[in-house]
Amino acid sequence: MHNLLQYHLIFTKERTDDPRALVRWASDLLRRAAGLKGHVDLLFFPSALVTWADHIISLDERAPRHQEQMDDLGAGGAALDGALADLRWANRWLGGWASVRQALRPLVKASRAARAALRLVDLGTGGADLPARLVRWADGQGVPLKVVALDANPHAVAFARAWLDRRLPPYLRARIEVREGDALDLAFEEGAFDVALAALFLHHFDAAGAARLLGEMDRVATRGLVVSDLHRHPAAYLGVKALAKARPGTSAMFAHDAPLSVRRGYRRAELRALATRADLNGAAVRWRWAFRWVLSTV
Ligand SMILES: C[S@@+](CC[C@H](N)C(=O)[O-])C[C@H]1O[C@@H](n2cnc3c(N)ncnc32)[C@H](O)[C@@H]1O
Repeated sequence: MHNLLQYHLIFTKERTDDPRALVRWASDLLRRAAGLKGHVDLLFFPSALVTWADHIISLDERAPRHQEQMDDLGAGGAALDGALADLRWANRWLGGWASVRQALRPLVKASRAARAALRLVDLGTGGADLPARLVRWADGQGVPLKVVALDANPHAVAFARAWLDRRLPPYLRARIEVREGDALDLAFEEGAFDVALAALFLHHFDAAGAARLLGEMDRVATRGLVVSDLHRHPAAYLGVKALAKARPGTSAMFAHDAPLSVRRGYRRAELRALATRADLNGAAVRWRWAFRWVLSTV
């Protein structure tokens, strides 16, 4: 169902940044699905709500000066562990993993056909749950995928290593190397990987930093880059705020950082401008459930 809605949104000319237009399309879709004619606005109430939300939370501008707790690269202990576990949950249920898998599918298919291995670097890897899913999925497709999972926070690196040791069988664990390092200044040679990935990471940087990150990703990857990040949208902001309150056991760091991440997210036109600024060739930006943009040159 969400795929249907997604394609409808894509074909209705990229106007998903306008919440009122979004609600009108959803309303129109529902009306057609229900076979209703006339002037019944089935979504009058949500429409009014979103308009009101849009009015009181202006997300027209990014919130670059606000700091997430995860921006403190010295953060650690139970507070960070809880947030990394919550991110793992969000990747599973809120489309993070699905968006990355979808973007990498053509590359994995091509590698299977060529019986070739694939090398990937995951920048700002956090708890490394995406690398774990990636090596398992690629292995199921008959592709030996090797991943370098990089994070600048030593506590996140330790968390990721310990979690991967528990999570993966030894032959898959051996395919992921977790390293500490700065994604803006990669200690890898040009073309060291086939593909570079950044998930929920680009929004941590202002435009200059984000363009630099894209440039670094482009430099080290021969076959393209994939960025999956949040869409700065009032519905996403309110949704994740409500979810953090309603979901039992949500960590304080996630409850603080997740809505702020939405406020710091880039919109489609902004991502395109960043791709141009970083001199990327053939960059496409696609909307993915739930409130993600995927920028890809794969
Ligand atoms: C929101 S988490 C994203 C985790 C993971 N990619 C995901 O999708 O769940 C952002 C991560 O980026 C890391 N980070 C922040 N600045 C960094 C930098 N300059 N270089 C590498 N990692 C960085 C943080 O330590 C944190 O673990």
